Amino acid sequence: MNKNQFGEDFLWGVSTAAFQIEGAHDSDGKGSSIWDVFTSQKGKIKNGHHALTACDFYNNYQDDINLINELNIPNFRFSISWPRIMPTGIHPINQAGIDYYNKIIDSLLASGIEPWITLYHWDLPHALEVKGGWTNRESVSWFSDYVEVCVQYFGDRVKNWMVINEPSVFTGAGYFLGIHAPGRRGITNYLKAMHHVTLATAAGAKIIRERIPNANIGTTFSCTHIEPATESSKDIEAAKRVDTLLNRTFIEPILGLGYPQKDLPVLKKLNNYIAPDDLNNLAFDFDFIGLQCYTREVVKSSILTPYIGAELVSAEKRNVISTEMGWEVYPPAMYHVLKKFNEYKGIKKIIITENGAAFPDEVKNGKVHDIKRTHFIQDNLEQILKAKNDGVNVDGYFVWSLTDNFEWAEGYNARFGLIHVDFETQKRTIKNSGLWFKDFLS
Ligand code: NOJ
Repeated sequence: MNKNQFGEDFLWGVSTAAFQIEGAHDSDGKGSSIWDVFTSQKGKIKNGHHALTACDFYNNYQDDINLINELNIPNFRFSISWPRIMPTGIHPINQAGIDYYNKIIDSLLASGIEPWITLYHWDLPHALEVKGGWTNRESVSWFSDYVEVCVQYFGDRVKNWMVINEPSVFTGAGYFLGIHAPGRRGITNYLKAMHHVTLATAAGAKIIRERIPNANIGTTFSCTHIEPATESSKDIEAAKRVDTLLNRTFIEPILGLGYPQKDLPVLKKLNNYIAPDDLNNLAFDFDFIGLQCYTREVVKSSILTPYIGAELVSAEKRNVISTEMGWEVYPPAMYHVLKKFNEYKGIKKIIITENGAAFPDEVKNGKVHDIKRTHFIQDNLEQILKAKNDGVNVDGYFVWSLTDNFEWAEGYNARFGLIHVDFETQKRTIKNSGLWFKDFLS
């Protein structure tokens, strides 16, 4: 396999997110985010890890951009921290925060690296959470004002935008299960957050379209290949409900198809929060859809889980090879999800905006021998190529992630980087997977 097989226009990149790398949690006027608050609470994050400093990208950004350059990676995806540029989530802006992102954008462009901005990668300003966060319908206008600010200050140089990152994950984990920030639980919180985030996705995209005529506008979704544990009709039905929840619920309203209420009856409760004109305001004609696929899930029916009636059978129980996250290593999942999403008529173009694997990497004699990650990436690329050769319109691949970083509730033990970080000293070491990727791209 070589790069040329993917075609000249295929985009190659690497992805990050502000809260996971920046640190500098209160520098230069930054406000608190829900993740700053969540990580300060006892017992929320494995090993009591926090992200006060993380990779200190706030101070190290130039060195890290130099490393992107050294690895021949032409596209860099990063997110804007909303509370860094709007400390209370609403006006006034914090000029120091704007200056910081301007320096990053200018430095990337000076190095010939294309910036790709994610507007929301989970770090809602805490001041807005106090007012109800995403469960408050006003969140749509708070978010719209924030998007206006971003396009006003960065839109002259940044062409590529992603509105919201993985809505199903941060609403599910943060508003239903309570295992991510803001740590809220229950179906009501979840469904309200779901609907407001979906409205905000379309609203944000429209603002970019109006303000930046030649923008390339996308938004990203997590997706997983779903299989029933057995051929029993109960498991097949359960798998269908999980597939609806994880793969369809957030993208279908955006594509103008409405919420898939027929296949997941609990979504009918959404009707309590849908205002008369909402269904028309949920759709947007995105230039690309970002898909982020890491694994497959095997599903069996269960009477123990309300609303969904299904359980995931863990990789450990199935006795299959998995990563540090406990996710099965199953590259064909990538092929299956690409084929599946390619069926949607409304998707113009797919970009894999994240893919990668966490392993417990160590530096030995100045090197990191992470052959499992190299194979993981190679095997996933093979599956993408197979889908592309079948006619799937997939046009880019971004590795998650540039450096090891703060993996949310998992803390720092799940190392996803092409570059190893010693979190005591902030020393970077390019892993063998990073060196492989560099050669592949050259
Ligand atoms: C999805 C998220 O967007 C990112 O923040 C996370 O670190 C990776 N996947 C790995 O879990």
